[in-house]
Amino acid sequence: MRIYAAKDYADLSRKAANIISAQVIMKPNAVLGLATGSTPVGAYRQLIEWYNKGDVDFFQISSVNLDEYKGLSGEHDQSYRYFMNHNFFDHINIKKENTNVPNGLAPDAETECRRYNHVIKSLGGIDLQLLGIGGNGHIGFNEPGAAFEKETHLVTLTEQTRESNARFFAGLDEVPTHAFTMGIKSIMSAKKILLLATGENKAKALYDSFFGPVTPGVPASILQLHNDCTIIADEEALSLIREKTNWKDVNYDN
Ligand code: F6R
Repeated sequence: MRIYAAKDYADLSRKAANIISAQVIMKPNAVLGLATGSTPVGAYRQLIEWYNKGDVDFFQISSVNLDEYKGLSGEHDQSYRYFMNHNFFDHINIKKENTNVPNGLAPDAETECRRYNHVIKSLGGIDLQLLGIGGNGHIGFNEPGAAFEKETHLVTLTEQTRESNARFFAGLDEVPTHAFTMGIKSIMSAKKILLLATGENKAKALYDSFFGPVTPGVPASILQLHNDCTIIADEEALSLIREKTNWKDVNYDN
């Protein structure tokens, strides 16, 4: 596990984009596991800029996203498919048919989960999985208590998650109650993990995840057991780690 301190959001985004573009350059037909949320937006912007300069090419890349709200179509402006198209895919030369997001409108959830697991496996697995982290340590929609052995599955969103996402919808009633998410097992199967965290509200989750016990109570703590996990965080997100441990800008390997 490596933790890199970023000076600010621009620095964090550039560092993350560097790692992603290195992956793409080393393996032009790589499978990228992607995340939505506010944290990776800067990295996507940076990659778009480098793509426009001709420095990185996504033509042979495939992608699989972590999660999607159940009940939202890809045209809904709060769906994760819409987010990915608008923040990334529409601005680079990835082939849309090679981008995968769970289908929020799939009539049968179990069939959709099976289909998505099959997509990941038929692509040969994920080369690099990008992750954000929730204030409670969630990754994807795997909330505290999630079983470590699950692949893609349907989750009931906690009231806390629905309330915190309500700001993006017309009201709480509009926030879906369920979502598809890759499970912890799917995430852990990725060859490399890159987790990004910004802001003080992630400080406890980051400390608990990487310096506390591995426990389903803190889903991201399982990443301590991954053999190629990189974390990039800003000073606010690192504040508790700096306060409580002797970690000092050095690579922390276990
Ligand atoms: C997004 C996802 C979530 C977010 C997490 C952090 O696809 O799966 O786990 O990564 O909620 O969200 P932000 O970046 O908005 O703080």
